[in-house]
Amino acid sequence: MLRLRAPAKLNLYLRVLGRRADGYHELETFFERLDLADELTLTPQARGIDVTCDDPALDCGPSNLITKAASLLQQTFQVTGGAAIHLTKRIPIAAGLGGGSSDAAAVLRGLNRLWRLGLSSEQLREMGAGLGSDVPFFLFKEAVFAIGRGRGERCEPLAGLTPTLWHVLVVPPERLSTKEIYDGFDRRERVLTAPASSLSMCLHALRNGSLSELAKGLLNDLEPEAIRRCPVITEIRTRLRTSGCPGALVSGSGSAVFGLCEDAEHARRVAATLSSSAPAEWRLHLVRTDSEGDDDAL
Ligand code: C5P
Repeated sequence: MLRLRAPAKLNLYLRVLGRRADGYHELETFFERLDLADELTLTPQARGIDVTCDDPALDCGPSNLITKAASLLQQTFQVTGGAAIHLTKRIPIAAGLGGGSSDAAAVLRGLNRLWRLGLSSEQLREMGAGLGSDVPFFLFKEAVFAIGRGRGERCEPLAGLTPTLWHVLVVPPERLSTKEIYDGFDRRERVLTAPASSLSMCLHALRNGSLSELAKGLLNDLEPEAIRRCPVITEIRTRLRTSGCPGALVSGSGSAVFGLCEDAEHARRVAATLSSSAPAEWRLHLVRTDSEGDDDAL
């Protein structure tokens, strides 16, 4: 039996450069891996892929990326054996935190070992890209920060970048569909103007450990559409700012919003201020940048 961590991600920067002929959007994004993680156990069995989850709200059928990842490996490499996969869900669902993609990446990594397929990380990333745009990012062990281009699947890990960021993550109950957010973006935000921030600004801020510069560099082109579908995001952003965060932003296609914090103590204070007044249905998480090489460490 194998136990694996499947960490969440944030997008500190997400710029949509345009719509492509295949319907996807060309992106420039800055990923950060978080210490908030799902847990997967993989147990070999004679045949078949059986997926279970502790969260009854999650569909564990053929449309789940875990099932898709396992079936893809099984069919591509004509694996005769099967696997029972159990997911302990901790990453909020449909919140822009990459939980489904990370689970799929962990399944690719885990079954590669369990079924002794001998695939390289690069081969796994190629297969992962077919499952979802964010999957390859989770198949880099060597870096917790990465730049994503193309659909987001062309990743450049930033191995020299080692700061630990602290965040308060606020997740409202609304779930947002990534496809619908991109579709809404097409309908309304197609006139793309030059942004006030850039990828190099974020990189510079992280290299210098400047939180105020990073706060100015936060950008997400999908945020206006996420707010239209989930207006409470505006209130969450404001509350994070007034609770002391120098910057706050929606992650990916939402609905999770993160606030930048100076350190662990500051994050605890922000979380305490917020939790004393926030609606009970908002979920608050105190999270930080994941540790390097920690993505497989169970
Ligand atoms: O790649 P993934 O399956 O995560 O994407 C989900 C949906 O989000 C896609 O079907 C597409 O509609 C949209 N998407 C996009 N451009 C991207 C990534 C996702 O339009 N770069």
